[in-house]
Amino acid sequence: MSPTSTLPNVEDLNPQKRLALIQVLGAITYGELKAYNGAMEQSKLVESEQDKKIYRKIAAEELRHHKGFSRRLEALGADIERAMAPYKDSLDSYHSSKVTDPIAGAVAGYLGEGIASDMLNWLKKVSDVETSQFIDTVIEDETEHEQIAIEKLKDLIASTPLGWLKAQIGVQQMLFRMIRASNPSSVKGPRSFGAFLKLGRSNDLVYALTTGMSKRVLSLDLGPRPLKLPKFAGKLPGLAFASPR
Ligand SMILES: [Fe+2]
Ligand SMILES: [Fe+2]
Repeated sequence: MSPTSTLPNVEDLNPQKRLALIQVLGAITYGELKAYNGAMEQSKLVESEQDKKIYRKIAAEELRHHKGFSRRLEALGADIERAMAPYKDSLDSYHSSKVTDPIAGAVAGYLGEGIASDMLNWLKKVSDVETSQFIDTVIEDETEHEQIAIEKLKDLIASTPLGWLKAQIGVQQMLFRMIRASNPSSVKGPRSFGAFLKLGRSNDLVYALTTGMSKRVLSLDLGPRPLKLPKFAGKLPGLAFASPR
């Protein structure tokens, strides 16, 4: 039995489930558009032709995801712009907060791809059969994006003085930006994301997002480590300096 064979067709969805699915797809569809814009921007910032090619390919894939989810919204009888509207404030706010440190930017890129994959793995189990089949093709791309993101991040950490510390700070900054962008005082804030909890298997979603993020942070090996100070041949003026080795 194929994993999607137990899922309903669009016409079999009850009205509450259809509405929750439209709301969730609205968030995902807008998120894919933001991912496309971000990859295009990145393709202009990187210097090597090879990197430009990588980000242009990622951008093309994100655009395919955006268009594919837009078509699923249409299949559900939804207006695409109306479905995306409640999520624009939060996602625009998150993506517009400037990250100046390249490592913090790479951390956000890597963890962001991971969140997308975790969310899609949940969504494919609670959506209609055709959306679920489309999501399988998206996850294939997202897995590759995540791999590219972690390789770039690990290279950066290894080649930057105190790179691991900057990555730790990057994780905290990302969490802060996520909380700030959710804007608890706005009706377009967390309440818009309530549809995610109404669609089904909400425990699976919460579990996947929280464990997914900590698993990825742990995989970066960002635990505390001894600070290696430079050796000094003599005394600094006015200061008896004990070299660590
Ligand atoms: Fe995507
Ligand atoms: Fe992606």
